[in-house]
Amino acid sequence: MSELSSQYWKELAGTQDELKQKIKQDPWRLNFHLMPEAGWLNDPNGLVQFNGTYHVYHQYVPDNPNGGLVHWGHKTSKDLVHFEDQAIFLSPDQPYDKDGVYSGSAFVKDNAIHFFYTGNVKQPGEHDYTFSGREQNTVHVVSKDGYTIDYREVCIPHEAYPEGFTDHIRDPKVFEKNGQYFMVLGSRSLDHHGKILLYVSDDLYNWEYKGIFLEGDREMGYMYECPDFFETPDEDVMLFSPQGLKATKYEFENVHNAGYYLGETDWENNRFVPHTPFKELDRGFDFYAPQTFEDESGRRLLIGWMGIGDTMPEYSNPTPARGWQHALTLPRELSIENGQLMQRPLKEYQKIRKNEVQSIMGADSTLEFNQTDTFELLVEIKELEGPLNMYLKEDTTLSYENNVFSFNHGVSGYGRSTRSIQLEELKTIHLFVDTSSIEIFINDGEYVMTSRVYPKKLRDTVLIKGKADLLATKWELSK
Ligand code: FRU
Repeated sequence: MSELSSQYWKELAGTQDELKQKIKQDPWRLNFHLMPEAGWLNDPNGLVQFNGTYHVYHQYVPDNPNGGLVHWGHKTSKDLVHFEDQAIFLSPDQPYDKDGVYSGSAFVKDNAIHFFYTGNVKQPGEHDYTFSGREQNTVHVVSKDGYTIDYREVCIPHEAYPEGFTDHIRDPKVFEKNGQYFMVLGSRSLDHHGKILLYVSDDLYNWEYKGIFLEGDREMGYMYECPDFFETPDEDVMLFSPQGLKATKYEFENVHNAGYYLGETDWENNRFVPHTPFKELDRGFDFYAPQTFEDESGRRLLIGWMGIGDTMPEYSNPTPARGWQHALTLPRELSIENGQLMQRPLKEYQKIRKNEVQSIMGADSTLEFNQTDTFELLVEIKELEGPLNMYLKEDTTLSYENNVFSFNHGVSGYGRSTRSIQLEELKTIHLFVDTSSIEIFINDGEYVMTSRVYPKKLRDTVLIKGKADLLATKWELSK
């Protein structure tokens, strides 16, 4: 533990163990989301199901809730609902990653997991405008079980990257196509465009640069982080987290945003050709650096980082003062329907439903449910006349009026205010509410809005108001 961070622990609690005890008492600790035991968490990494077990690795700074030297934390699960904490999988203990084991992915071949990550080395100097100050090596790790490391070597050293880029080249994601292995890497070019680089390999050990898979114009941001590519029978999907993207009306309003293109790949020329505009993946306040993987049943699942610390400039996350910060989203199942990426909650979460209560909205146009710390609420709307409002947590309001659905924070949003979506029609609102987070699936996965929220006390009831023919079902959720 560094001097600075042990000092930090002392001010908060005393010893690290005392702090961990104190953290456990925090009412904002989440019930059914992954979060650090103490310290800081960011991107999900190396997502994989291997011999039945799901492995979720993540960016992790165990000794400082404000971030710092990142490791890969590790959690495992048999059902994606109940997770066990595992020992740290990767620490920044090699010359090629001494300033951080940055983000990366997993690929299963011949009963072993091949991980690829960015080894970060901060040489003195300037990093954003040149290729000289900082190494971002691509590192290959092989593990036969997901817990222990059998092989760990640089596979693309910093010096081997193509010309024309700044020091920012990172976040490898590997996939297979026609018997060959491909890797996409995010980058920032010297002229400050986000670009995605493509590499190819026959054996996962030796990689050859194939060119630029996707590049944006200046409007599309100066840096692309965490690229993720997968094919579906209908469309190819290119997901990434651009920085410096311009906000439009309702979209890309956070400081950093994550989104996707649907399109088609020209494999002759190794270029991804988008068919759609770039769409924001999640329209809430806390969502970044998502990663996808295919599980052993063939589902394409996505997990995102629920938070980026500076989602809106005026926001200040209150949990570092309690010794920890950030969490991951619930896993979501992806599919493409009618030319659009749908995101749905996993059916596995139905297992933790308890105490079902169901109500039909009557003539008095209000519905009330007991407010609980954690719950799931499904609102199915048949007909709606005029606005609809929902009040929950301490002072969170969800509203729908004139085809605009809005998520409004009160003081429990700690500086954030409103995000909105324009809809053709509102058919369903499906909420997953944890002690300090809300995920809203709208119209059966057409849109999602994710946000952390920090209530000091709860309203007595969850209230729905509007002139509507609707059915609402609420479950308490508890593991
Ligand atoms: C995205 C990111 C990645 C990087 C990692 C470092 O949030 O900046 O590009 O690998 O976080 O923690």
